[in-house]
Amino acid sequence: MKKEIRDEEIFLSENRTIVSKTDPKGIIEYTNDYFEEICGYSKEELFKKPHNIIRHPDMPRVIFKVLWDELKKGNDVRAVVKNLAKDGRFYWVITNFFTVYDEQGNISGYYARRKKVPTHVKVIIEDLYKKLITIEQEAGMEVAENYLMEYLDNFKTDFNGYVEYLFGKDKELIEKYLKQEVSDQDILDFEKKLNFKKNKE
Ligand SMILES: Cc1cc2nc3c(=O)[nH]c(=O)nc-3n(C[C@H](O)[C@H](O)[C@H](O)COP(=O)(O)O)c2cc1C
Repeated sequence: MKKEIRDEEIFLSENRTIVSKTDPKGIIEYTNDYFEEICGYSKEELFKKPHNIIRHPDMPRVIFKVLWDELKKGNDVRAVVKNLAKDGRFYWVITNFFTVYDEQGNISGYYARRKKVPTHVKVIIEDLYKKLITIEQEAGMEVAENYLMEYLDNFKTDFNGYVEYLFGKDKELIEKYLKQEVSDQDILDFEKKLNFKKNKE
């Protein structure tokens, strides 16, 4: 079923965090209340569904390729993502993706924390994503990936480093959005049960 796409943004609260946890294949196992509030799906609608249930067509495929390539290597990833709500509206999130391990040290799934994206970051990344989508449509994903790698080379950084660079040196922006201070008690309680490496840099 093709979803209706509406050119209407949902603006996130400054202080709240959207979280979800998946199995190793990206199937949703947990979402917090704010996740549902923003995307408009209930817990039941989300549970055991692939995470692409909120994938927005404006997101380049290559970004998810880079995401999965890195996660499978056990690397944590930062990405700015445009998501699609149930009613067709969109919302932007800065997402920190973490690998979760079981007691034997095997990957048991992935965990994502998301916050609102400052406007200046949205403007820059939207331009890049439009360019990547055009390349994907005209020349395929491999060419888009090469373009992205060359683009990152210009900034002498990798994908995570580029996202950090976009946030700049403003301490408040970094603490609040990039490092994602969490004040919601339900998230703190949930995270206590997860074995993952927090981004502390
Ligand atoms: C923990 C975790 C959270 C994810 N969160 C999102 C998300 O918020 N939005 C999204 O479009 N994809 C998210 N993904 C990526 C999806 O699994 C999927 O790769 C992406 O939606 C592209 O789907 P497609 O390959 O079927 O086109 C997440 C993956 C993981 C492991």
